[in-house]
Amino acid sequence: MPFGDESPAASGKANLAPVLAEAIDIAREAGALLRDLFFKPRDVRYKGKIDLVTDADSAAEELILGRIARTFPDHAVLAEESSGGRIPRPDPPPRHLWLVDPLDGTTNYAHGLPIYAVSIGFLVEGAPALGVVYDPSRDELFHGGVGLGAYLNDRPVRVSAEADLERSILATGFPYDLRVSADNNLDHFTRFSYATQAIRRLGSAALDLCYVACGRLDGFWELKLHPWDTAAAAAFIPEAGGRVSDYAGGPFDVFGLETVASNGLIHGALIRVISSDES
Ligand code: IPD
Ligand code: CA
Ligand code: CA
Repeated sequence: MPFGDESPAASGKANLAPVLAEAIDIAREAGALLRDLFFKPRDVRYKGKIDLVTDADSAAEELILGRIARTFPDHAVLAEESSGGRIPRPDPPPRHLWLVDPLDGTTNYAHGLPIYAVSIGFLVEGAPALGVVYDPSRDELFHGGVGLGAYLNDRPVRVSAEADLERSILATGFPYDLRVSADNNLDHFTRFSYATQAIRRLGSAALDLCYVACGRLDGFWELKLHPWDTAAAAAFIPEAGGRVSDYAGGPFDVFGLETVASNGLIHGALIRVISSDES
């Protein structure tokens, strides 16, 4: 779907309410579809050597894009399966942009591992404004946005209070090009394995980020994520008291290649570990 060219409209908090309500409803409907299809035989295609897509990804994306187009026909949308790969930052940014991952955790889903989510982010003039991540397996819906707070199933969430990296549990993931690119996170994975209590690789970056927001994880880092993986949670991690940045501790960019998220307290330590092998 092309970028929308919209007449100026107020985009304050009040005007985000209908968008948020619709995003929540869409995420729940798409999540229910994924849950229904989870135990059925699935059609798996390979986009790359280890990069899968299933018929469920496509079905959920069709549902989500159809609903957004009907309700907000002049909003721009970028969704994983119809985007055709990595997207440069749109310049100028559309006034309203939806970023949709219909199924974050496809590899898990294809293997019958129930760790996956629908992730829907919404940017206003290029900045994350609100987001919804729905985990159908646990019926957990994370939502929030700038000035709106951060919630899990409508209860406010808060990041953890752990200030010591050695006692922290982190999550990460690996890019699909890890076999062919030296920039594959294995160096940082080794480094963090020595520096922390434990590292997890859950397989859904959108959920990893939500788990930072609600204190289940103390921190997260990953390379080469896409805007539809990060936009939703990036809008509400600061509302939960956390911090999101690039690898140097600078401002987070959903179209950038580096994501570090934390409870804020260990953020400097994460950046130091990441930076310490770059001479
Ligand atoms: C992937 C997951 C995974 C992360 C990958 C992502 P997908 O998204 O979020 O945790 O490590 O980098 O591409 O392909 O399942 O939508
Ligand atoms: Ca994804
Ligand atoms: Ca996906």
